[in-house]
Amino acid sequence: MLSVRDVHKSFGDNHVLKGVSFDVGEGDVVAVLGASGSGKTTLLRCLEFFEHADEGEMELDGMSVDLTTHSAKITRQIRQKTAFVFQNYNLFNNKTALENVMLGLTVARKTDKEKAREIATAALAKVGLAERLDYYPCELSGGQQQRVGIARALAVNPKIIFFDEPTSALDPELVGEVLDTIKQLAKEGTTMVVVTHEMSFARDVATKVIYMDGGVILEQGKPDKIFTQPENERTRKFLARYLQDFDYNI
Ligand SMILES: Nc1ncnc2c1ncn2[C@@H]1O[C@H](COP(=O)(O)OP(=O)(O)OP(=O)(O)O)[C@@H](O)[C@H]1O
Ligand SMILES: [Mg+2]
Repeated sequence: MLSVRDVHKSFGDNHVLKGVSFDVGEGDVVAVLGASGSGKTTLLRCLEFFEHADEGEMELDGMSVDLTTHSAKITRQIRQKTAFVFQNYNLFNNKTALENVMLGLTVARKTDKEKAREIATAALAKVGLAERLDYYPCELSGGQQQRVGIARALAVNPKIIFFDEPTSALDPELVGEVLDTIKQLAKEGTTMVVVTHEMSFARDVATKVIYMDGGVILEQGKPDKIFTQPENERTRKFLARYLQDFDYNI
């Protein structure tokens, strides 16, 4: 489904991504873990062409692209196949939930308004917001706003959804409702790459875990393996810090 090869990205002399390669199969839920500054957001942004990589390629749904390209046409084609869920929701504050979700359809996909309304209503119902269609972001809780963000991603029926720390801006009591929504999508076979610090989510829901450190993937594999027998000392230390509450012997 998605194959990423040898991505490099620098900001000035800060070499942030130093050759990142990984594969995502159809229906995979890939959890990307790693310390702050390890390059997780930059990696996702390069795949969505919010940033231009200095080197690297990807193959997505049969389409091969050079990640350094500035071509508007290729950017558009890739964004037809993908959706992005942001840490801070990125909703338009002057639009209702329904209008926010419709915009992704009417503007980027040229869907006609009535059809867009139908699809957006269904997407919002799916994330449990059927009763909140006409609410503005300021009238919704953080968890509800993020579920609007997820509905907006779902509405365009993407091949893959990228999530950048979808719960890290939320109050702790609101994290669960958003994770439950993502879990439900996982159950339905939605292909997703999720940058997260929620270790129990990574352990229980992900089909694959990637651990990033200093701009490289230090370790990747099935959650069982990474969480119980990490091969790298740095992975072990990172997980130990987060897993104090878990009964793991690492
Ligand atoms: N637009 C930018 N301009 C300059 N430097 C940047 C930019 N975006 C990211 N960086 C730098 O790239 C490095 C990696 O940042 P990135 O946001 O990808 O890390 P991260 O793993 O997502 O961290 P966090 O867990 O804190 O979100 C950092 O050193 C950051 O300062
Ligand atoms: Mg980040």
